Amino acid sequence: MKMASHSIGFAGAVVLLSVALNAAHADGDPRRGAKIYGACAGCHSLEPHLNLTGPSLSGLWGKKAASVSDFPRYSRALKTKDFVWDENTLYAWLADPKAFVPGTYMTFSGIRDDRARSDLIAFLKIGLASDGAKTVVAQGLIPAEEARGQAPEPLKTAKPDGRVTAIRHCKDTFFVTTADGKERPFWELNLRLKVDSSTSGPSDGKPVLLPAGMQGDRASLVFSNVAEIGTAIKEQCPKQ
Ligand code: HEC
Repeated sequence: MKMASHSIGFAGAVVLLSVALNAAHADGDPRRGAKIYGACAGCHSLEPHLNLTGPSLSGLWGKKAASVSDFPRYSRALKTKDFVWDENTLYAWLADPKAFVPGTYMTFSGIRDDRARSDLIAFLKIGLASDGAKTVVAQGLIPAEEARGQAPEPLKTAKPDGRVTAIRHCKDTFFVTTADGKERPFWELNLRLKVDSSTSGPSDGKPVLLPAGMQGDRASLVFSNVAEIGTAIKEQCPKQ
């Protein structure tokens, strides 16, 4: 009698476990998944054609891997794969991207927890459908800024203290003059020279100075194109 109930108990547990695993895979909770999506928004946007570190995820559900045509930074590893994005491929990819596609450029360690991954995939099923950015915002799953992702701020409308009018370099120092009339010195290693050639970048000939954290001693100079970096910076020391 005791033996029998023991073995039934064991079999029952196995059945329950496999039901639980299937359920975890199939019906995640998009609301919980939306919270986990925060881990993706630093590198991805759900809006069409808005590529960040990673490609826009807009409309990706059911599409072939590495098929966003205006994203130029795919790894060879992902480009040569031949599968479509669905529950199963995302389930494996998001558990451990480097194990699923060795050589991928997605530097994300993965979500090992099956339940959390299923929840995220339930959210992605909505967000990666066509017009998914609009749907997830309309359903109150994530705010519009998060659907947009950490896209750079538009620089064509920078304030006077960001609009650069002159840049000179002398010894180990950049001197940057802005439209508010101020000239600020930066140790040359504290000024990052960047290019934003996208529509949100600065206009040609109008580089923008952005504070870059720390204690105000660091900043970024953003140009609209590479050639301008050479022409806009004058090597010039004040006359002694
Ligand atoms: C640190 C930046 C970064 C983070 C964080 C990140 N990704 Fe990525 N993702 C990338 C890059 C870069 C690629 C392109 C990979 C390649 O070419 O090998 C990519 C590719 C992808 C792809 C394949 C796209 C395609 O066109 O086939 C999917 C799907 C994806 N990411 C989903 C996610 C999800 C979901 C998250 C959050 C759990 C996430 N990513 C987090 C950078 C990131």
